[in-house]
Amino acid sequence: VRVEWDIEAASKGGFEHFMMKEIYDQPQAIRDTLLRRLDNNRMIHLDDIKLTKEDLEAITKMYVVACGTASHAGLVGKYAIEKLAKIPVEVDIASEFRYSDPFIDEHTLLIVVSQSGETADTLAAMKLAKSKGARVLAITNVVGSSVAREAHDVFYTWAGPEIAVASTKAYTAQMIAFYMIALDFAYKKGTVTLERYHELIDRIEALAPLVEKILENKEAIKTIAEDIKDTSSAFYLGRGIDYTTAREAALKLKEISYLYTEAFAAGELKHGPIALIDQGTPVLCVVTQKALEEKMISNIKEVKARGAFVIAVTKEGHSEVGKVADDIIYIPETEDLLMPVLSVIPTQLIAYYVSIARGNDVDKPRNLAKSVTVE
Ligand code: G6P
Repeated sequence: VRVEWDIEAASKGGFEHFMMKEIYDQPQAIRDTLLRRLDNNRMIHLDDIKLTKEDLEAITKMYVVACGTASHAGLVGKYAIEKLAKIPVEVDIASEFRYSDPFIDEHTLLIVVSQSGETADTLAAMKLAKSKGARVLAITNVVGSSVAREAHDVFYTWAGPEIAVASTKAYTAQMIAFYMIALDFAYKKGTVTLERYHELIDRIEALAPLVEKILENKEAIKTIAEDIKDTSSAFYLGRGIDYTTAREAALKLKEISYLYTEAFAAGELKHGPIALIDQGTPVLCVVTQKALEEKMISNIKEVKARGAFVIAVTKEGHSEVGKVADDIIYIPETEDLLMPVLSVIPTQLIAYYVSIARGNDVDKPRNLAKSVTVE
């Protein structure tokens, strides 16, 4: 008997597309990235990062530099590092950073983020920073990649191979990497207590089952995607760290649906973007930050009054948001700083389902490459 064996189907693990498989790989990617670095006392060990307490104390400035989705992980990283380790962080995209004559000296730490570890602009940015005396730490998913070889310190995300062009699990793992780096630096610098350190580790670990819970809701999210599949444009709004999710969500939808999408900081609405809102324009709002919730609710009312069709992603039980939005996706609650890991999941599913509904090749979108190794 000859058994027909389709390698591609096998590696999709029963899913129709790599992207959906990789969306489902995320709880495991979170566990692998975190748990492989915890010892029996639940202390973090970043084996390939040799920065000592003294090194960290000498660092006065940090940059995070990357392209595409990886740069959005960097924005989350900025919040984590500034809040926990109290070091100022600037985030830039590699193709801008490298030509901007950045202020770099031996007290600068440059963190580059690259799933593939082969992105040309990211590599060039790190070479530039090294030549000016900066220390360079790479967060990458590929062992032995160019970025990993060029860096002084490396953090490997253990997301496993990512095949779909649109990044999902690598992004989640990059955010986990930043939380861990921020916590480790903070503990070394003495800017968090041991109690808080362990509380955050527990919360990061608890993200994995919460992501599973969101995935159980995928049919409802599919219905919402069907509501917007025939639009020509869609906008995302958020404030603070939710604006980061909005940017990643807009990129994801743009990449695989070919819709015109854009994310706006909700506070900027009145300075231009609100002119784009017309009858039925889909506006996806990310509302997970306690301190910004009221402001977001008034932004939702503003776009609704101009005819927008509002889809909100918010925490379970936030009925105020439910009252003003047309469609609502409730996600479980964790602390504000960690919410981007949860809030991005429904937006990945929306992008996936809109892409499929429009008949696109979700794993290999037109004109895009998994890894951009030319400038
Ligand atoms: C390409 C991919 C994106 C990715 C970006 C950066 O544009 O399509 O998914 O975010 O490159 O890639 P890197 O491998 O450096 O993370």
